[in-house]
Amino acid sequence: MTNVTAENLQTGDLRIDIDRLIDRLGALAEIGAIEGTEGCARLALTDEDKRGRDLVVGWMRDRDLNVTIDAIGNVIATMAGATNGPPVMCGSHIDTVRTGGRYDGNLGVLAGLEIIETLRTAGITPPRPLAVGFFSDEEGARFPPDMLGSLVYVGAMSVEEAHGIESIDGALLGEELERIGYLGPAPLPAAAPHAFVELHIEQGPVLESEGIKIGAVTGVQGISWTEVEVIGESNHAGTTPMALRKDPGLVAFQTASFVRELTLELGHPQVGTVGRIELHPNLINVVPASATFTIDIRHTDNNVLLEAERRVDEFLRAAAAAEGVTVQTRTLARFDPVTFDDRVIDLVAATAAAQGLSVMRMPSGAGHDAQMLSRVCPTGMVFVPSVDGISHNPAEYTAPSDLEAGANVLLHVMLELARS
Ligand code: GLV
Ligand code: MN
Ligand code: MN
Repeated sequence: MTNVTAENLQTGDLRIDIDRLIDRLGALAEIGAIEGTEGCARLALTDEDKRGRDLVVGWMRDRDLNVTIDAIGNVIATMAGATNGPPVMCGSHIDTVRTGGRYDGNLGVLAGLEIIETLRTAGITPPRPLAVGFFSDEEGARFPPDMLGSLVYVGAMSVEEAHGIESIDGALLGEELERIGYLGPAPLPAAAPHAFVELHIEQGPVLESEGIKIGAVTGVQGISWTEVEVIGESNHAGTTPMALRKDPGLVAFQTASFVRELTLELGHPQVGTVGRIELHPNLINVVPASATFTIDIRHTDNNVLLEAERRVDEFLRAAAAAEGVTVQTRTLARFDPVTFDDRVIDLVAATAAAQGLSVMRMPSGAGHDAQMLSRVCPTGMVFVPSVDGISHNPAEYTAPSDLEAGANVLLHVMLELARS
């Protein structure tokens, strides 16, 4: 193998093999496949997640990479460089929401593997080690908060706290990790990489509607997740006069409606979602005893996000008082907006332009592992278009030529970071 150094690295024409990347995305999507769709369901630390992990770890080991697993189940595969030291890292996640597509997260991981394979095939040793990782429970849909694995990776949450987190189905995170065989020995918090770059589908409509191929991501908006439990008085639907009801369902629906009104009042880019509502006992002729629901609100400006949180809480408490029910709230996730490293943003934009690709700078609406890694090293992201802006939906789709363009930008961004 040629030892290529910073001085003589000639890699400008190097390109990844898109067929190999598509084949791997397809093979991974077969695990937890949602029948009749292109999507898949691999909620974090389920049997399906384990099978997905095993497949990807097998590919990593077949490439003779140094594979480590830590106590939160993050998996990092490293290719040696011409010098030792912290790697230039890429990666993302392979867990999905229950109605996931095949690209969200998986693209960033499998493109990283493809980049390493491309370098191997070309006989190139990068100036620094290169690593590709997948972080546990990025989605947070089963175990909140989202980006949990990368949060622990950078030391912003302790392993003990993370292991004690309960899932929406009542399982404990530490026990589930052990059960699926991904409670590993690698130290946490992990040593900071030299730099981190995540390739991801945009999951929104902006690149497609602007006719742009690559997003140079400037940062990630702030995220606030709250779980609300409203307790009322269960009673007969036919006999209980309206004036005597203490209906927790009403408060849930009023709050959901208020969240929409508030986002309209605050305007773009304020977003708000009530994505989960559970009524108990959930029967046609029973006034519910309780309502549990979630509120997801996000904004790029933390002050506006704080204001939105305050207004939702104020509304909720007033609605509960008016109906005579009690209310309890629990914060599931709260992350301030993140700004990525200017040098990495510029490098992504310049690399895309050098490859003849149209590029725009843009913030991310979705949460990503990169927002956690940015706490410890220079970090950035590369976005590729999502058809119709659809994601967290089995219909999620990105054209092969766009996947290829994104992976080639990632390849050359990583090589340049390895030279720096
Ligand atoms: C996580 O992917 C989120 O943005 O909800
Ligand atoms: Mn994702
Ligand atoms: Mn997602």
